[in-house]
Amino acid sequence: MFGRISGRYDLLNRVLSARQDVAWRRQAVSRLRPHGRVLDLACGTFDLGLEALAQGRAGVVHGCDFCLPMLHAGAAKRSGRPITASVGDALHLPFADASFDAALVAYGWRNFPDPAAAAVELHRVVRPGGQVLILEFFKPERWWPRIFHGTFGRYVIPTVGGLLSGDRSAYTYLNASTAKFLSVAEADTVLRASGFTATVWMPFFGGVSHGVIAERGGVIAGPGGGGGA
Ligand SMILES: C[S@@+](CC[C@H](N)C(=O)[O-])C[C@H]1O[C@@H](n2cnc3c(N)ncnc32)[C@H](O)[C@@H]1O
Repeated sequence: MFGRISGRYDLLNRVLSARQDVAWRRQAVSRLRPHGRVLDLACGTFDLGLEALAQGRAGVVHGCDFCLPMLHAGAAKRSGRPITASVGDALHLPFADASFDAALVAYGWRNFPDPAAAAVELHRVVRPGGQVLILEFFKPERWWPRIFHGTFGRYVIPTVGGLLSGDRSAYTYLNASTAKFLSVAEADTVLRASGFTATVWMPFFGGVSHGVIAERGGVIAGPGGGGGA
């Protein structure tokens, strides 16, 4: 499915979110500490890794995704930048323990067949004291996200996404997978059960999307540090 939409993936993100996806990545990355070696998991066309580099939150980025056409679609964007890339599965990451100072996942976690196993893998490949940043559409529970996902997400995104990409089913999947995914509270429990010791949650657009920074063996510094969902 991701291979089919890879050619128009960036365009669709910008149009369907009215460029809010760019702002959400920027805001979330700004809450990270600066890191050296950073994994961008389910990197797609590298937007999150590029943002981390632009903000000085990453020295070098490695993008990993199980969909080769997505990596190809983003190849020109990483040209000349300190970003390497490889094909890999989030549930069986081809990296040694503690390989990275931080890991990032934007709108990938919801797609992994076993989100808890993926969280354990993220914890494994990040060094103690490192951070994991996840952006995602979690199962909507409050009134505004429920209305938004139940109307715009259910009807407008499949229609516009289908017209622009020629693949309506891929954009029907987006809303369906959100409805079936973990809620914020459930995701927080999964992250802590995976070994992360602190989480900082960031609601975007009234909770339509969220970012979360999970700490591997330390306490988050900065505004709003500590706390839970
Ligand atoms: C919605 S896209 C997000 C891409 C990018 N992170 C962004 O923010 O634009 C989801 C990505 O997750 C990747 N993905 C889905 N399941 C995966 C898995 N099990 N292992 C690795 N990548 C996966 C897809 O190939 C796709 O590129």
